[in-house]
Amino acid sequence: MDFENYGSFIKANNARHIFHPMISPQETSKSPPLIISKGKGVFVDDIEGRSYLDAVGGLWNVNIGHGRDEVKLAIVEQLDRIAYYTTFGKTSNPPQIELSVRLCELLAAEQMEKVLFSCGGSDAVETAIKLARQYHRLNGQSERVKIFSLKYGYHGLHFGGLSAGGNPPFRQAFEPLLPGFFQVDSPYLYRNPWTENPQELGRICAEQLEREIVYQGAHTVAAVIAEPIQGAGGVIVPPENYWPLLREICDRHGVLLIADEIVTGFGRSGEMFGCRLWGVKPDIMCLAKGITAGYIPLGATMVSAKIAAAWNNPEKPLPIMHGYTYSGHALACATANTVLDIVVREKLPENAAARGAELLGGLKEVASRSDIVGDVRGRGLMVGIELVRDKATKQAFGPADAEMKLLADTCLELGVVVRVMASKIILSPPLTIEAQQVSTIVDTIDRAVAVVEKQRKAAA
Ligand SMILES: Cc1ncc(COP(=O)(O)O)c(C=O)c1O
Repeated sequence: MDFENYGSFIKANNARHIFHPMISPQETSKSPPLIISKGKGVFVDDIEGRSYLDAVGGLWNVNIGHGRDEVKLAIVEQLDRIAYYTTFGKTSNPPQIELSVRLCELLAAEQMEKVLFSCGGSDAVETAIKLARQYHRLNGQSERVKIFSLKYGYHGLHFGGLSAGGNPPFRQAFEPLLPGFFQVDSPYLYRNPWTENPQELGRICAEQLEREIVYQGAHTVAAVIAEPIQGAGGVIVPPENYWPLLREICDRHGVLLIADEIVTGFGRSGEMFGCRLWGVKPDIMCLAKGITAGYIPLGATMVSAKIAAAWNNPEKPLPIMHGYTYSGHALACATANTVLDIVVREKLPENAAARGAELLGGLKEVASRSDIVGDVRGRGLMVGIELVRDKATKQAFGPADAEMKLLADTCLELGVVVRVMASKIILSPPLTIEAQQVSTIVDTIDRAVAVVEKQRKAAA
């Protein structure tokens, strides 16, 4: 490799062989993407040495910040022992056992007792769906197979999670999806046909779910899966009463409640787990992202003691015919053990709550001055900004509109990476972020919004 020309080699070849998720290959051919080659704390550097504040936190996941030496040491120490050995059947490894204990301690309030590890969020959801179905089968209720979920929900992109997913753009290229999956309305305060009253909306949406379960026959429903705060759908925070109502409905009808905590888990919402915002104990929890803060892929599906008991029948010692080559990967679990030590020691959920409130407050001020910021919402360090052509009609910008691209490009020019999805900007910086860096994000978005507004006025 000619290192002098390494930069141009990298830029020239990206589009040649790489299919990037979530973008047309023609787009990546037109101009090279931002090629990130280094990171420290909340900052990342591109291949040309320009530094940016990472307001996306990798992809909701780099909760402890980039480049932590402690994690590097833990990985090297584990590498010196062994990188990998199968966990199928009767083989295990110390880091995964240690991590299982740590997770069950962190989730003692939810009475989580068992974990099945995997490689990421989509795997964790797939595992949850399968365990939910097998649970009912073990209990002699093999008709309970249906999975209910919410519009705007995101549960990864394997066929199970995608079939539960409630965002049509992810689904359309791959339909028909799996039978037996149904979505009902999400309590989306900014856009719903019923009410501006959060509690009333929570009740209306919960009732809709219950009506649908009863209509289809509760004896056919295995589980409801939902995110404590919908992330990729645009950071949709449910009303306070919604999750408690979900729990009641599931209990009333013998349906399992699966919390997809892949984004909200480990502090991002300002609580260690998102379901605690609502005081609800799920039956199954899906974890990934923050569990290793992006240093190595890992997913985990946690099952409560009550549900795990179904596998304890001495007359039916049934195997769990599910798992992955990399379930309980020793390096990934060693990483998670260290990452979770950092999350607890540095009180990152508390910092997410405090910095998140500042971020939300600052952005709400931007919204109050702006013609195009329709809504700002979030909890902890997950914040969504919805941009509209007209605040009165709430007409959204389309994904191909020049305004959204101008906004993202301007933020980048000003040194902040933000995530733009259709008409929404999503912010999810590392939970280690400081107050001054939060101000930088707010200031950057303020300036970028002003650039877009000026350009719109000039074009009018
Ligand atoms: C709530 C939620 N569930 C599942 C997933 C899928 O995770 P992964 O991309 O690691 O498969 C994501 C990813 O963003 C997510 O936000």
